[in-house]
Amino acid sequence: MHSDRTHLTLPEIIAGRRSVRAYLPDPVSREQLSHMLEAARWAPSPHGRQPWRFAVVTQPPAKLRLAEAMGAEWRRQLALDGQDEATITTRYEKSHGRIVSAPVIVVPCLYLEELDRYPDDERQAAETTMAIQSLGCAIQNMLLAAYHQGLDCGWMCAPLFVPATVRAALSLDDTLIPHALITVGYAAKDPVRRPRRLLEDLVVRWE
Ligand SMILES: Cc1cc2nc3c(=O)[nH]c(=O)nc-3n(C[C@H](O)[C@H](O)[C@H](O)COP(=O)(O)O)c2cc1C
Repeated sequence: MHSDRTHLTLPEIIAGRRSVRAYLPDPVSREQLSHMLEAARWAPSPHGRQPWRFAVVTQPPAKLRLAEAMGAEWRRQLALDGQDEATITTRYEKSHGRIVSAPVIVVPCLYLEELDRYPDDERQAAETTMAIQSLGCAIQNMLLAAYHQGLDCGWMCAPLFVPATVRAALSLDDTLIPHALITVGYAAKDPVRRPRRLLEDLVVRWE
């Protein structure tokens, strides 16, 4: 049974969304995905440049290719960290399973080509930070639009550590920097909700 969340208010959608790491096999339609990407499109961005692009992966062979390429690189990195073979295999299998069993994967990529250029590194770094902040806004819009439609998402940061591998696996242009892997589908079960800090712990000054 899929949840009908179309009647929810914005605060209910914001507080109701949660990360999902296991999905039902039920497919997600192209229309639903378009609705999520449309929400991403309206995110705020530095100078209005929209420094993000999205790769959508729905076909099982493409998901497998992505999971295997990323997994091989990740195994190599975990071995460099000195992790033992059994731990590496467990972590690899968990991550691989999450990617191949998600009905859809969206890979949000940072696209810096149209940002302002500065002669100094400090301001250039600030420009890049703005673009990354904006990518986060676009992703959150997407997560909320998914939740509103009864879908669920999970955020995997792995592409940040292996951007070239993700680019190669999906034949993405060199100008795109994969920043995350968003799994999309219908939750297999309602996950445990992570608590939040009280607002008074977060607001450090109000005068
Ligand atoms: C930038 C970022 C990276 C994240 N990376 C991962 C990840 O690699 N694996 C994972 O299971 N969850 C990841 N998450 C999800 C967080 O663990 C999750 O949002 C947090 O624990 C709060 O839980 P909630 O989303 O259910 O409210 C990531 C979230 C963000 C914003």
